[in-house]
Amino acid sequence: MPKLWEQMLLVPTVVRLTSRVPRDPAAAWDGYWRKIHTTGRSGDVLWDSGSRTEHAQYSDAVVAHFDPALPVIDVGCGNGTNTRWLAGLFPSVLGIDVSTGAVELAKREAEGVQNADFMVMDAAGVGAGEQLLERMGPANVFVRGVFHVLKPDKQSSLAANLRTVIGRSGRVFLAETNFQGNSLAYLQQLGATPRSMPRQLQSALENLPRPGRFGAQERQSIFSDSDWQLIADGPVNIEVVPMKSAGLSQQVPGYFALLAGK
Ligand SMILES: C[S@@+](CC[C@H](N)C(=O)[O-])C[C@H]1O[C@@H](n2cnc3c(N)ncnc32)[C@H](O)[C@@H]1O
Repeated sequence: MPKLWEQMLLVPTVVRLTSRVPRDPAAAWDGYWRKIHTTGRSGDVLWDSGSRTEHAQYSDAVVAHFDPALPVIDVGCGNGTNTRWLAGLFPSVLGIDVSTGAVELAKREAEGVQNADFMVMDAAGVGAGEQLLERMGPANVFVRGVFHVLKPDKQSSLAANLRTVIGRSGRVFLAETNFQGNSLAYLQQLGATPRSMPRQLQSALENLPRPGRFGAQERQSIFSDSDWQLIADGPVNIEVVPMKSAGLSQQVPGYFALLAGK
């Protein structure tokens, strides 16, 4: 069947599945996380591959540029997979997430990890930057898969909060999905067909706001040259859980940026 026709056949399923997504994004995220039973590579969470290959793309940059004397904040930590990875590289890591359900899950999964802590917080909220600075002092920031789920006004608020948190010596490392096709093509790439919808994709569609993309163009408009210095950026592969063939790794084109304040 031609690809475009297959895309059109996905429309009714997508309309049906997305019809009950809560309007408030924070409520939507919490509802999503509270329905999650299993995590990791064979779990319910679409983006939670915990891939070593993906982490290997980031580790040289974070180890070379994050001052280890500063704590690390994992913004939008979800169930804390990256927080736990960062806790293996740095002395002190804090995962924050807007969803209480996510933070409860992250705390359970990080039991026994002494240098990882978690906190519920809207990272794009008014005063979040000052609150974090007061609690942690200047910090490095890791963000994976958060900017692309926020609307542009929230992206700007988040960037402003991060600018406050990093102070003079902290750095921001972000990695985001940056798929160039339309949203139906994106669903196809992840494994949706007119006959079947992977369960991880189905629960994302049923519960979550529709994601966008975040690449160099979006980063330029959100992280202004007057406040930010770009140290490095480029393409990365974001690994999702296997949804097409059991056990087979699946990647989404992504974008990373490493930034300092001015
Ligand atoms: C696509 S998930 C990525 C989770 C995690 N970073 C990872 O890579 O496994 C996006 C996460 O951002 C969180 N989130 C969304 N909006 C947020 C906000 N305003 N402040 C903090 N966290 C937020 C969601 O609850 C969710 O856990």
